[in-house]
Amino acid sequence: MSFTVANNVAHPDGSPAKFSPHPVEYENTIYQKGLQFERPPFTFQSDQWETKARERLSAESNGYVMGNAGTGETTRKNREAFAKWSIVPRRLVKTDDLPDLSTRILGDMFPFPIAIAPVGVQRIFNPEGEEAAAAAAAKEGVPYILSTASSTSIEDVAKANGDGTRWYQLYWPSNEHNDITASLLSRAKSAGFSALFVTLDTYILGWRPTDMDNGYNPFLRSDKIGVAIGFSDPVFRSQFKAKHGVEIEDDLHTAAADWTRIVFPGLSHCWEDIQFLKEQWKGPIILKGIQTVEDAQRAVELGLDGIVVSNHGGRQVDGGVSSLAVLPRIFEAVGDKLDIFFDSGIRAGADIAKALALGAQMVLIGRPYVYGLAIGGQGGVQHVLKSLLGDLQLTLHLAGVQSASPEHLNRSVLEREDSL
Ligand SMILES: Cc1cc2nc3c(=O)[nH]c(=O)nc-3n(C[C@H](O)[C@H](O)[C@H](O)COP(=O)(O)O)c2cc1C
Repeated sequence: MSFTVANNVAHPDGSPAKFSPHPVEYENTIYQKGLQFERPPFTFQSDQWETKARERLSAESNGYVMGNAGTGETTRKNREAFAKWSIVPRRLVKTDDLPDLSTRILGDMFPFPIAIAPVGVQRIFNPEGEEAAAAAAAKEGVPYILSTASSTSIEDVAKANGDGTRWYQLYWPSNEHNDITASLLSRAKSAGFSALFVTLDTYILGWRPTDMDNGYNPFLRSDKIGVAIGFSDPVFRSQFKAKHGVEIEDDLHTAAADWTRIVFPGLSHCWEDIQFLKEQWKGPIILKGIQTVEDAQRAVELGLDGIVVSNHGGRQVDGGVSSLAVLPRIFEAVGDKLDIFFDSGIRAGADIAKALALGAQMVLIGRPYVYGLAIGGQGGVQHVLKSLLGDLQLTLHLAGVQSASPEHLNRSVLEREDSL
């Protein structure tokens, strides 16, 4: 069965569709190609992407992407939390089209309710790294969030992303390095990054056994992989020269150590420091890593635009609460006052549906697209994004949910499995 795009209009405001509003068409394309004995780029079984990626990656890269804090309890809970909520399908819901997946966030309409989570050092997963992922995101109509720990410069990622939507994620240097923070933000702004995500949970890397087993910290290496944004920063470069009397390229080891200390300073900022970011970044600011109602309320008081309810995929605090478990109470407290993004544990269309039903307006896809990058570069990331969106759309359609907007996709669509 195939669906035709009725009128080439994706959004209620009448603006023309640049992306098909029917990502489920991917399924039909695959079945048609199957008639000619063509097969998909790799499996659609999202729980196998990790295994497939493992086969391609070095021990160090595997340890890094699979790595979690301590015993991995938080990460396990992130996944288990989704099974505690069940979608309850409704029947004979009159529809004349597939569910509309568009979402309003940060004052704009987006065709799909997902974005690419900031993930550092993407060249350790594929030599084309961030450029491949950013190009894939633009192709699929999905915003790309660039990490400060990128292995490609801000400017090169912008080029690869072209006319896509891109946002910048800050690993926030301590106040003594405010000049470097200002430089990063000004570069991001000039390169067309339109929102700032400030990650609050990683002023130091978590206790990660898989990385320690390999003696591997990608940021300390003199291979330049974890430090591309620092090494291309004019303020850091001139400060390095003034301090050491040589260029970065003359002492890569010291330069990598210096930059790593700047972006992972070891101590947290405090709420008062946000003012500096507001002065420097004249645009939307979103705090990433929020897990409590109190912190979400502080974000509202400071007039921030959004939060990401996230525990960094369980990579920072072991024995922590699952990110999905805290989403409903945060939504209840601040859902009408700022925008809510969600991540940590999204692996399939139904997971996206549940997070949206519990109050997120957009979810960030993390490890799944990294697996796609490892398996198939840009095409691999596109396959993952298309799969997740097609799966989401069909799940909503078959559950009798007419759109991904809160009017239709809300708490009433779900039941707590333990209450049944
Ligand atoms: C390999 C890896 C690197 C990451 N690097 C960053 C980063 O540089 N900045 C950041 O804010 N979050 C980073 N994250 C966290 C993601 O943005 C996101 O919160 C997390 O992947 C969500 O968990 P999930 O992938 O298990 O769904 C990283 C996650 C992974 C797996």
